[in-house]
Amino acid sequence: MNLNVLLLPGDGIGVEVTREAEKVLKQVAELYNHTLHLSEGLLGGIAIHQTGTPFPDSTRDLALAADATLMGAVGLPEFDNAAPEKRPERGLLGIRQALQVYANLRPVRSYAALIDSSPLKNHLVDGADMIIVRELTGGLYYGTPRGISGSGPEEKAVNTMVYTRAEIERVAHMAFQLAGKRRKKVTSVDKSNVLENSQLWRRVVVEVSLQYPGVALDHLLVDNCAMQLILNPKRFDVILTENMFGDILSDEGAVLAGSIGMLPSASIGARRPSGAWAGLYEPVHGSAPDIAGQNKANPLGAIGSVAAMLEYSFGLIDEAKAVNQAIESVLNSGEVTADLKPAGTPATTSQVGDAVCAALELTPARMV
Ligand code: IPM
Ligand code: MG
Repeated sequence: MNLNVLLLPGDGIGVEVTREAEKVLKQVAELYNHTLHLSEGLLGGIAIHQTGTPFPDSTRDLALAADATLMGAVGLPEFDNAAPEKRPERGLLGIRQALQVYANLRPVRSYAALIDSSPLKNHLVDGADMIIVRELTGGLYYGTPRGISGSGPEEKAVNTMVYTRAEIERVAHMAFQLAGKRRKKVTSVDKSNVLENSQLWRRVVVEVSLQYPGVALDHLLVDNCAMQLILNPKRFDVILTENMFGDILSDEGAVLAGSIGMLPSASIGARRPSGAWAGLYEPVHGSAPDIAGQNKANPLGAIGSVAAMLEYSFGLIDEAKAVNQAIESVLNSGEVTADLKPAGTPATTSQVGDAVCAALELTPARMV
């Protein structure tokens, strides 16, 4: 199969983890006889430095031409006080919108080898396995009017939380279809005791649920959901929520698994003529400028994102499984970065990438 993949390493540790993800992708292509066509583009702070904008047209063109895009992370402290359109994060919002990837899938699961890295007691987290479906191209992140105006005591900032019925319907369908292949439960999260936006969200989700009689639906207010994630993470199968709530809850979910460095994500939406998803794949973590350039960052979230890409954009289920198995065997071997290793000598970013590649060579799935 031809795999046309765009790499967008971005900023900070994004660069290091993307290199390891690239190694793993090359290893998969070699072991399973796929032809990999890699392109590389600029996004985020590095794009501002080199082109003056966080999401240059050249990157848009590359992304639209690729089958799938693998991104590292964006964000650099020197832009903290920059105007909104000159911030690295705007680049990420731009590419999500350009690719129309409205559903962001963030799987959270506990790994046996990491159970002691979780801040929760073992019995609470052991066996937790959920997927957060975060709406990604609407809500507060994109709504207008927005901006800061006026001055003095009247200086004013506005953001707008807006969803259309169609936007809620399409992401809700995604969540119910996913749940149908899992433990058949959707928990929709909103703030319908206060926000009209959430009242529409809840009403539309209930309507969509009628088309999926085999999938149970319940609702949680977002504040309660934040609490239940800590008290009883095993109660969740698929969490469906809007953009901003999903951003916040997925960071909370990430640490349940032991480290935010572990979490992959897949952003999907439109389908290609082949039926595959046009997708954007990225680890959930940020650019972590404090440890950037030190070969310390955990690349497993980025490598897990490669597995997600193989599965969703290319339908290569065996290959995806093999990558996930390789990740698990590296976790079991203890050759992990400092975020997962409170004592003893941690492995470097590149050592973990090499270990995943070595484990891939041994995986039985390759024989299938
Ligand atoms: C994420 C990140 C981004 C978001 C930032 C970097 C814009 O936090 O993917 O969770 O808020 O969506
Ligand atoms: Mg976030």
